[in-house]
Amino acid sequence: MSEPLIVCGVDLGTHATGFAWAVIDEENEDAERRRIHFFTQWPGQPVSAVKNLSALLLGEGDKVLAWGYEARRRALSLLSGSAGHRYCAAFKMDLMETSPRATDVQRRMGRHKEAASSRASRTGDLEITASASQEGHGDTDALDEEGGESTDDDGEPCLVEPPSEAERLTIELLSRVREAALAQITSSGYLEEDIRWCITVPAIFNDQNKQTVRRCAAAAGFPNEDGRLILALEPEAAVHHARVRGAKPPGEGDQPPMDLSAPGRRILVVDSGGGTVDLAAYVNDEAGRMVEIGLVNGGRHGSNELNHRFEDRLLADRFGKPELVKQLREEVPEAMLDLVEAWERHKLSFGADTTDPVPLPIPTAVDRKLGAAVRKRLARKQRGVTDSILITPKEMQDVFDTVVPDVLDLIDEQLAEVAVPSLPPDSPMPVVLMVGGFSNSPYLQHAFKQHLKGRAHVLVPPDPSSAVLYGAVHFAYSPQTRARRARYTYGVNSSTRFEPDVDPEELRFVASDGVARCRKRFAKLVTIGDVVDTEQEISDVFLPVEGDTTRLIFDLYTTTQENPRYVTDPGCERIGTVSVALNMRDALDDRQVRLYLRFGETEIKVRAVVPKTGEEAATTVHFASDY
Ligand SMILES: Nc1ncnc2c1ncn2[C@@H]1O[C@H](COP(=O)(O)OP(=O)(O)OP(=O)(O)O)[C@@H](O)[C@H]1O
Ligand SMILES: [Mg+2]
Repeated sequence: MSEPLIVCGVDLGTHATGFAWAVIDEENEDAERRRIHFFTQWPGQPVSAVKNLSALLLGEGDKVLAWGYEARRRALSLLSGSAGHRYCAAFKMDLMETSPRATDVQRRMGRHKEAASSRASRTGDLEITASASQEGHGDTDALDEEGGESTDDDGEPCLVEPPSEAERLTIELLSRVREAALAQITSSGYLEEDIRWCITVPAIFNDQNKQTVRRCAAAAGFPNEDGRLILALEPEAAVHHARVRGAKPPGEGDQPPMDLSAPGRRILVVDSGGGTVDLAAYVNDEAGRMVEIGLVNGGRHGSNELNHRFEDRLLADRFGKPELVKQLREEVPEAMLDLVEAWERHKLSFGADTTDPVPLPIPTAVDRKLGAAVRKRLARKQRGVTDSILITPKEMQDVFDTVVPDVLDLIDEQLAEVAVPSLPPDSPMPVVLMVGGFSNSPYLQHAFKQHLKGRAHVLVPPDPSSAVLYGAVHFAYSPQTRARRARYTYGVNSSTRFEPDVDPEELRFVASDGVARCRKRFAKLVTIGDVVDTEQEISDVFLPVEGDTTRLIFDLYTTTQENPRYVTDPGCERIGTVSVALNMRDALDDRQVRLYLRFGETEIKVRAVVPKTGEEAATTVHFASDY
């Protein structure tokens, strides 16, 4: 594989999606002077923007008729209720739902595990044990490859479930962004194979969600090879951008301003987008590189939530019954889209100092559907106004406050995480960096500043909506992250010496060496909250118990517990399987396998080495979501 000549970032957003790219060359080595190219001429857009809408217009048989602003423009001009058309938007967050496919694979894999374990306890031929040098880590339950995933208990092939609707829509969206990026990059004289792509994902996506994004990207035509497609966490990408933009918080007391890459600087990023608000926190090390110090948190508190509240609160209140809103959405979807658009425009400018009510004109198609009782109700509630939805500042504030206090709570949690007691009293206050489109909101900015007065500097880069996108380019060019905090405790399914009176009898087995062992022990590799260097690999050594084991199969588990004892403890979740082929010509003791985990590149990377020869063992990793 040749070295990439181009890095291209793709910000896959709930509300909007775009791409930006840079050439890897000497002139661009200096991040502050790096030239980033982007595209702003999306068909149908009302104003030029670096991201297009994450929307699709589907026709008969779910054929994609248009995407982005063009999809919305065409949806709005369709006759209300045109049969066979569907406007789809804001589907990214549905990728977080475990798809039926993943559940099914997990369930089937779980069944195999049980079947294979019982076989193991019967014949004792499938166990592996840790090397004597590793205290505490004993054997690992193992399956032979044949007992793995290709057939289920009954010998039936495991059918691969079709992708969920959110996955299908994401594939369609990603393939169109990829085409747009390729058109621009190849017209500049580069080839598709010159590109290293970087797609952004919310920090709150778990390993399985990230695999879903990878799977969608591959189906959309993006490369699958390691290093050709990387994933970046959205808030982390955004800090990369803010650092090179030279954003500087004011200095403490009479101190001069200190930039965002200064050693010791603590930065808490809040990426408030359409779907989620994602938080992450970093401190710069002596070399100015970022070490993640907060534990990533966030939630579905994005600006789209406000749109939902407009429909299910304000409209439901004006029309008197929520069912009518639902009915209108079904019968005149384009007119309702038009009304939500008007709300969206009003939402953007709403601030704590807004004093006047704002009228949102009721589209004719909606108006025709309103009966006399609803009109009477409108007149009563809105001082005679019946042709518009009149929204008072108090109502707007109430809608914002269904989201904003939750975001402030998340910030407080994160600030508590980054309060390092050993810091000298005169150390600078942390910086709260507001990025994502919702950060443009005057109301949100005001709330942040009020809430954090005297506790943190609040910084809003001039282009918060595109910080993640540009940051993805910088991240793909040269990641400035030195260490991350583990979001889970990670380990593998293993067996250790049986401890009478502690371990349950049903987990006890005796292998052919006569030693009583306990299966299903959680052999911990990383503890939740551990700061793990992005370059560092965490490893442990394992060895088969029985001489005729041809392949070690490790089940990877996560949990939020610090010290789980068994992989069956509540909260333990199997995320994948690592399969290592053994060299049967080696003596049993020489068939040790050292398993390495690396957390550096946003996703976990696994490899295995045979310590005796130093050779990399042939390893396959299957994440539960069919990686
Ligand atoms: N002034 C504003 N007030 C409130 N919301 C705003 C404002 N400006 C933009 N937004 C909202 O920001 C959102 C778009 O932001 P952004 O592009 O960061 O989202 P996204 O990346 O698509 O979503 P996510 O990151 O959650 O997947 C839209 O929902 C839009 O309504
Ligand atoms: Mg975003």
